[in-house]
Amino acid sequence: MDKATGWQPLAALLATAARVVAFTGAGISTESGIPDFRSPGGVWTRYDPRDFTFAKYVASAEVRARAWRMRREFWQADPQPNAAHRALADLEAAGRLRGVVTQNIDGLHQAAGSTTVVELHGTSRQVMCIGHAPRVGTPDGCGFRSGYRWAFDHIDDGETDPRCPQCGGIVKSATVSFGQNLFPGVLDAAAALLGDADLVLAVGSSLQVYPAAGLPASAAATGTPLAIINDEATPLDALASLVVRGRAGAVLPPAVAAVACRTAPQQ
Ligand code: APR
Repeated sequence: MDKATGWQPLAALLATAARVVAFTGAGISTESGIPDFRSPGGVWTRYDPRDFTFAKYVASAEVRARAWRMRREFWQADPQPNAAHRALADLEAAGRLRGVVTQNIDGLHQAAGSTTVVELHGTSRQVMCIGHAPRVGTPDGCGFRSGYRWAFDHIDDGETDPRCPQCGGIVKSATVSFGQNLFPGVLDAAAALLGDADLVLAVGSSLQVYPAAGLPASAAATGTPLAIINDEATPLDALASLVVRGRAGAVLPPAVAAVACRTAPQQ
């Protein structure tokens, strides 16, 4: 495993790859002003993740009201894609990146122009009905889905716990909380994308949360080169062909710029 702090070794890897897949975590969005979870000052250093489980959300109107307040604050900041998101979109537009598998729920990859994005943990840009009393960890709604503004309009009208307009069920952001199953088909879609990659970039993730972190780990274990771009060490560093210690917004753009204009190697 090579360790680097500059972008050049990453550019050298990208130059030989034609089917890159990016696996991203909250660290790719911190330069958009969105705190990650486990860095100093991260979300789970300020809140207890045990308070944000699917079961507690279903059981308590107060937990739901607090969750809507937090989501409202998040979207009021109107986060925008940063140079790292745009670099991955550029690599896709250059025909070298097959897609992004992200743990993030902020939708910033799509906002940057990425068109193939698998959102392992769903998206906070939508809300959905999860039913009146869903079974453990499994949303059981009527199918109602809308943009998050539907919910904020109701919150602004004084509702603290907006209910489904079709069936009266509980409404939640279309995200995957602790204690909630991933949405059907998402893991298979991610595995299919990664299974065909000739280079996996893991960007801005502590690679500690499963089943998500098992995806880059499996790719590396089956011989696909793995490059990790992260501010700090991760448990998968030993599996990586290259570890770049640095900020995503400083490393990805020059590495991508160095290869995006060159002809991609044969697929
Ligand atoms: N550039 C590179 N790395 C960064 C940057 C940056 N600008 N900012 C933060 N990092 C690194 C941090 O050092 C940390 O190792 O990104 C990593 C973010 O790790 P986490 O906060 O654990 O976020 P993530 O890996 O996405 O968490 C996975 O955990 O709580 C659940 O559902 C949540 O999807 C999330 C999952």
